[in-house]
Amino acid sequence: MTEKREFRAIRGTRDILPADSALWHWFEQIARETLESYNFREIRLPIFEDTQLFARSIGVDTDVVSKEMYTFEDREQFHVAHPLSLVDVIRLDEAVAEAWQRGTIPRTAANEAEVLTLHEACRDIERAGTPAVLRFLDSVRNLALGDSLTLRPEATASVARAYIEHGMQTLPGNQKLYYVGPMFRRERPQRGRYRQFYQVGAEVLGASDAPAIDAEVLEMLLVLFKRAGLENTTLYINSIGCKECRPKYVELLREELRKVVDKLGPDSQRRIETNPLRVLDSKLPEEQAVIEKLPRISEHLCAACRQHFAELKDELHLRDISYDENWRLVRGLDYYTRTTFEVTATGLGSQNAVCGGGRYDGLVDLLGGPAGVKGIGFAIGTDRAILSIQEGGKLPHLPGLSVFIARMGAKAYPVAVNIAKKLRACGLAVELPPQEMKFGKALGLADKLGARYALIIGEDEVASGTYTLKRLADAEQKKLSEDELLEYLESERRGSGA
Ligand code: HAM
Repeated sequence: MTEKREFRAIRGTRDILPADSALWHWFEQIARETLESYNFREIRLPIFEDTQLFARSIGVDTDVVSKEMYTFEDREQFHVAHPLSLVDVIRLDEAVAEAWQRGTIPRTAANEAEVLTLHEACRDIERAGTPAVLRFLDSVRNLALGDSLTLRPEATASVARAYIEHGMQTLPGNQKLYYVGPMFRRERPQRGRYRQFYQVGAEVLGASDAPAIDAEVLEMLLVLFKRAGLENTTLYINSIGCKECRPKYVELLREELRKVVDKLGPDSQRRIETNPLRVLDSKLPEEQAVIEKLPRISEHLCAACRQHFAELKDELHLRDISYDENWRLVRGLDYYTRTTFEVTATGLGSQNAVCGGGRYDGLVDLLGGPAGVKGIGFAIGTDRAILSIQEGGKLPHLPGLSVFIARMGAKAYPVAVNIAKKLRACGLAVELPPQEMKFGKALGLADKLGARYALIIGEDEVASGTYTLKRLADAEQKKLSEDELLEYLESERRGSGA
């Protein structure tokens, strides 16, 4: 008998139930409208990509790549019968040999060794029995039949890949792209931090790195937050230099960090060698005093980066955007150059970054694309934006169920089916219960479902060709003809935005 088992969502993933999904939909709709008003257009990207795309773009020493990616081999398994007879083993051995001949098994040295081992094990089976079968099965499993793939931990790398793959540098103007969807990182789950989480992201790729682009991206982001009622936000900005000035600063930082190594925890000690900039990100209270005394990148930017940052700040003033400069904002992904930024929101506890982004001028180049393509973008963490909106308590009025149809008598049923179809065609949400219910019960259910109106169709209504519409909030009732009903509910819908 099969064991009874309760399945639950995997740790770090969750279901967004209808009580919340309306708010999610509303937020994503505002995001789309805002981004499209700045002439960004949607790009739909794959959920998984070649592992190397992320390793190269984000950097092998980052937490994301070294610890948090969901990586798997894309293999088409050979079918192993269970239980396995000798005939099955011989067939499998032949199938593997044939696939090797045809080249369907990638011709790597490791695969060649496995093919030989399994063939030898197959010949040994009659003599050696179980150990040879096990050896055979191990080799079948060890065949590396496919590529290493990774569930996307972020989408900037995918956008850069798509830009190159589709030759977008030949299209007119800058490419202004946005995406909406899930990302995956194996982080320690907590409030506001999930293993499957959602982002709304935007990227601008093209030949120009004008600070006006950075400023417009930031303006758009803040307009979006404002429209969504996320008002208690703070924008932090920084410049982390370019490939000219940053390596010199990183070396200086490393030297200074080596001098204070004893005062740092194990993570920061390791980062002195692997990625000293990340030490600036540390939240450990005992490291703060040491970090505050370290040299700041703003004092070590080259003239071009200094000018870019100064012009960005002028542009932000022009657009009336307030910000805080944070010299420790280095971000956790390696592709950034010059401008970096983050937006924090209230009501989120420690996971208060609701958006992160920055410039990545060398990324397309690094991925083998055309030279000189610049990029900048951001990603909003939708889970956190929603949490913050919910905490702020200023929830939008979202359209729910408009009309619940309460009917009595066999003749009322076709009338109800018909009018339900017409009301739905007008864009109204209508619930038509599959079974007839007593009026009292039907109205009680309409109330529990949060319907605005109950549409009553009884014998009287059928006989007179009218409908009784009852507003549930104040029990006001109207008798209406079909045309009057449609007109009334349509104008209500337009008025309430439902
Ligand atoms: P990021 O800072 O890694 O940047 O992520 C952006 C936002 O996604 C964060 O500020 C946060 O709100 C949300 N987020 C990240 N990890 C989680 C998680 N485990 N659970 C919930 N929310 C999370 C990027 O992803 C870059 N691709 C942004 C970018 C676009 N830079 C340039 N263009």
